[in-house]
Amino acid sequence: MANSKLNQTLGEFIIENQASFKYTSGELSRLINSIRLAAKVVNHEVNKAGLVDIIGNAGDTNIQGEDQQKLDVYANDKFIQTMTKRNIVCGIASEEEDDFIAINSQDENNQNKYVVLIDPLDGSSNIDVNVSVGTIFSIFRRVTPVGTPVTIDDFLQKGNQQVAAGYVVYGTSTMLVYTTGHGVNGFTLNPAIGTFYLSHPDMEFPEDGRIYSVNEGNYIHFPKGIKDYIKYCQMEEGDRPYTSRYIGSLVSDFHRNMIKGGIYMYPKSSLNAKGKLRLLYECNPMAFLAEQANGKASDGFTRIMDIEPTELHERVPFICGSKNMVEKAEEFMRNAE
Ligand code: AHG
Ligand code: MN
Ligand code: MN
Repeated sequence: MANSKLNQTLGEFIIENQASFKYTSGELSRLINSIRLAAKVVNHEVNKAGLVDIIGNAGDTNIQGEDQQKLDVYANDKFIQTMTKRNIVCGIASEEEDDFIAINSQDENNQNKYVVLIDPLDGSSNIDVNVSVGTIFSIFRRVTPVGTPVTIDDFLQKGNQQVAAGYVVYGTSTMLVYTTGHGVNGFTLNPAIGTFYLSHPDMEFPEDGRIYSVNEGNYIHFPKGIKDYIKYCQMEEGDRPYTSRYIGSLVSDFHRNMIKGGIYMYPKSSLNAKGKLRLLYECNPMAFLAEQANGKASDGFTRIMDIEPTELHERVPFICGSKNMVEKAEEFMRNAE
């Protein structure tokens, strides 16, 4: 593939594109740089997940002496530490923390404008079986004045206010994929030298796809619209039946569907009235990426990024992927009302 952009590193890309961002102070660039660093540290740990016991048995402990620490807690600590130490955000909310964390936000000299919401390790149950996991992040400008303490209002913003969002997929190779509202770009880590290179410029969902991703084991509990859409996917007609692929790791399922064309669904069910996925650090960032990549994200009726959040860890039904597929699923939802 001849593409002159392909030898560009993530660091170079961030600098080159800083000017196209409407607030050009460089603060957002520094923030994405710190996420890049934390991603490399977490990647290193995730990669040796299966070795922990072996290393432990050899009498070798890790830096903290905490071999047995759950990786999602480790990832949480690393992302929070990196962003806190570099003093570039005024607040962080995480799946692993009950409440948001304020970072020197009461200090009137603290001019940091951004808050980050993060799922430090997504799909973490897959770690035990050597299957891809990810990290998801969402970035907003605070709505309260700089130099005053951050409040819950800084975190409970609609997704359409996001200034950046992205994910890291710790897969057969590790990639960082993000958007600042100017399309979606993917960078692959060269593990030999610890550098991310632009490998997937201007990523886009194909408008139509042939993959549907849903935990069909829950079929019996799904709403009628989703059941009907699943049957539609399985029907022999035109380019159907579609193929079914479900890793159980949102980041990986989304990543594959964006490249190949497909739809991901985590609907509400008779067991989970609002589904499972969290609006603020799973659905909103993925929805921003999807729309920037010519895809779509909805709760079945409403655009994900237009939903008004009411609490930090709230859940929402999530349908996301190739535009025509999501619209078809929405049509089934409407018809089943
Ligand atoms: P997390 O590991 O952050 O809790 O998220 C897991 C999520 C998502 O990544 C995945 O698609 C979904 O849970 C899988 O849920 P089911 O096992 O219910 O299908
Ligand atoms: Mn998750
Ligand atoms: Mn998680």
